[in-house]
Amino acid sequence: MSEEMTTVDMGAIVSLCKRRGFIFQSSEIYGGVSGSWDYGPFGVELKRNIKNVWWRDMVQRRDEIIGLDAGILMHPRVWEASGHVEGFADPLVDCKSCKKRFRADHVQDDRCPECGGELTEPRMFNLMLKTFLGPVEDEASMTYLRPETAQGMFVNFANVLDVSRKKLPFGIAQIGKAFRNEITPRNFTFRTREFEQMEIEYFVKPGTDEEWHERWVKERFEWYIQYGMRREYVRLRQHEGAELAHYAKATYDVEYLFPFGWAELEGISNRTDFDLRQHALYSGREIAYFDEDTGERIVPYIIEPSGGVDRAALAFLVDAYHEQRVRGRKRVVLRFHPDLAPIKVAVFPLLRNRPELVALAKEIASELRPHMMTLYDDTASIGRLYRRQDEIGTPFCITVDVQTLEDNAVTIRDRDNMEQIRVAVPEVKDTLLEKLSIC
Ligand code: GAP
Repeated sequence: MSEEMTTVDMGAIVSLCKRRGFIFQSSEIYGGVSGSWDYGPFGVELKRNIKNVWWRDMVQRRDEIIGLDAGILMHPRVWEASGHVEGFADPLVDCKSCKKRFRADHVQDDRCPECGGELTEPRMFNLMLKTFLGPVEDEASMTYLRPETAQGMFVNFANVLDVSRKKLPFGIAQIGKAFRNEITPRNFTFRTREFEQMEIEYFVKPGTDEEWHERWVKERFEWYIQYGMRREYVRLRQHEGAELAHYAKATYDVEYLFPFGWAELEGISNRTDFDLRQHALYSGREIAYFDEDTGERIVPYIIEPSGGVDRAALAFLVDAYHEQRVRGRKRVVLRFHPDLAPIKVAVFPLLRNRPELVALAKEIASELRPHMMTLYDDTASIGRLYRRQDEIGTPFCITVDVQTLEDNAVTIRDRDNMEQIRVAVPEVKDTLLEKLSIC
């Protein structure tokens, strides 16, 4: 009855995101702004679900990781100590003809990718976005929008240790915005100037760092699979010497096979004791851990799993996207894991001009709403309503029909196999909670 169609291209994803309200161009009515995107009603739910499951799995369900929410604006010395002022730069080339700028490592044959013109020699361009604190725009008031959330966790190491009394190994986790003045934002939300990160700084005893690094690489890889990504579309790639960041001893990327090729979702680095030592040096404060076993003060090593929320959202969208031909017609369906699906259940009356059906459907929706994200819709025919929910990735749809008035039962339709079952109204909530594995 149904047949899977060929693999997805980015055009189909971008168009679905706009059409269904996942992602809009930023400031679209003014012609848009490069490198920034707005998440619409379903995009914001998807992103929130990704952050929630990450926080639940990495923080709330573990004893040794605690959360933090540090400011985006930090003391400018932080960025000197971290090495970002000196070294957080990409090589940039200009086209002598059309004047456009490109990252030198994104240009293939030394000619402008837009017009074929001659390019300048590469020069380094710092990716941090500058801003000024207070009314005077001078050097003394200048700082940066953070390019990673990590530094907030390093500078709070002693505060968190004091209040939590954790023993090594322990971690600090944070989710928040980061900003980079990318030379060439591209591939939709993949490379943007404003994005969100989900980062863990995991502090371990020196000497145990390599073993912990390996454990985190495996754990973070499996996390993407756990939420439904097809294993053959996810891989690990180790950074080669020159590719390593200035702070890293070793890094593995979790990569996803996007329509534009394999690309990084998350980096898991062994940052050694670089960051804590740098902040101790620049701040003049001791940053160390007292090891009760040896009676020594030690500077822990750091293993850092650092993922992007927007990249995860894009990969989950691409991975969930399926086109099928059903009875000669194209069906687009997002097969999200139930924990990630923006809407868990949609409720419709079969006939919107029958007030008794409308009232009952609305009543069922409001009974479900406290337990799961529920949507009521009666703005189109039943076929269109199903198609809309398939494209949003809603796992279940409930239809209230004329028979419901007699047998007090409704139809529950499964997004993935389109099968329909009849369920008594008083059992609908528990049936769905069980199917969605919500407890
Ligand atoms: N604290 C380490 C760090 O920031 P990174 O590899 O530069 O490492 C971590 O960034 C993650 O942040 C990346 O794996 C990616 O998911 C996300 N990210 C980085 N730059 C991004 C950008 N310009 N647009 C969207 N996401 C980005």
